[in-house]
Amino acid sequence: MSITGAGQGLGRAMALRFAAEGARLALCDVNEASVKETAEECGGDVRTSVVDVADAGQVDAWVAGTIASFGRADVLVNNAGVIRDNRLERMTDDEWNAVVDVSLRGMFHCCRAVFPHMKQQGYGRILSFSSMSWRGNFGQVNYAAAKAGVVGMARTIALEGAPHGVTSNAIAPGLIDTPMLASMNEAGRAKLASRVPMKHIGDPTDIAEAAAYLCSEAARYVTGVVLDVDGGISIGSALR
Ligand SMILES: NC(=O)c1ccc[n+]([C@@H]2O[C@H](COP(=O)([O-])OP(=O)(O)OC[C@H]3O[C@@H](n4cnc5c(N)ncnc54)[C@H](O)[C@@H]3O)[C@@H](O)[C@H]2O)c1
Repeated sequence: MSITGAGQGLGRAMALRFAAEGARLALCDVNEASVKETAEECGGDVRTSVVDVADAGQVDAWVAGTIASFGRADVLVNNAGVIRDNRLERMTDDEWNAVVDVSLRGMFHCCRAVFPHMKQQGYGRILSFSSMSWRGNFGQVNYAAAKAGVVGMARTIALEGAPHGVTSNAIAPGLIDTPMLASMNEAGRAKLASRVPMKHIGDPTDIAEAAAYLCSEAARYVTGVVLDVDGGISIGSALR
């Protein structure tokens, strides 16, 4: 089981969830110290690598190394992502590229590297991280475009993988309490939480539970879905 961006946040929560089921984990992140910390928390048979998913060569080497160690590639979780918010007219090329390179190009690199192995073994689970922002979000032209791209790619890979026992799904998290949200002050978090129908920000374990299902044998007939895990925020305006 391979997870990108496993050093903190949702990646770490999923690593812990999968480790609890005895999965053999191949975790990567750009941050070496954090991914090693995740591995220590998981215990057991964990392989850690420093990989920038935006770099195709690094991804190819990581996937080849994982398959050499584990003999198989059953599950790929495309979780790595960054935000660089700005309004359209102020957005720089660097901000655009940083977000698209990690979320979208990174997903492409990882899927392309893993897919032939999954196809050959007749089994695979690919799970990719979109966001509630894929439908559009103020100040996130880069992130919304990348996360909508994740949906398109996930659904296309679902079609290409279907005859070979390879599923491809996406999760679109709402507001989840990870370091990605940590820059926000208490007042900002409370304001956001009040807009969630369930009236609270989600916990990383809420995402890990959904991921565990989509990556399981039990989800064998589920492919091409985008699962909103967001306390109902994507339902839209509640007039009250
Ligand atoms: N937290 C939320 O509320 C939320 C909401 C919607 C979507 N998401 C998505 O879920 C995923 C995980 O988010 P999170 O909140 O855990 O984020 P996070 O910032 O807490 O963690 C992201 C991890 O990805 C790693 N990373 C960054 N660039 C990388 C690269 N080029 N190669 C490899 N690793 C890299 C980081 O070092 C970090 O460990 C992201 O794709 C994010 O866009 C999160």
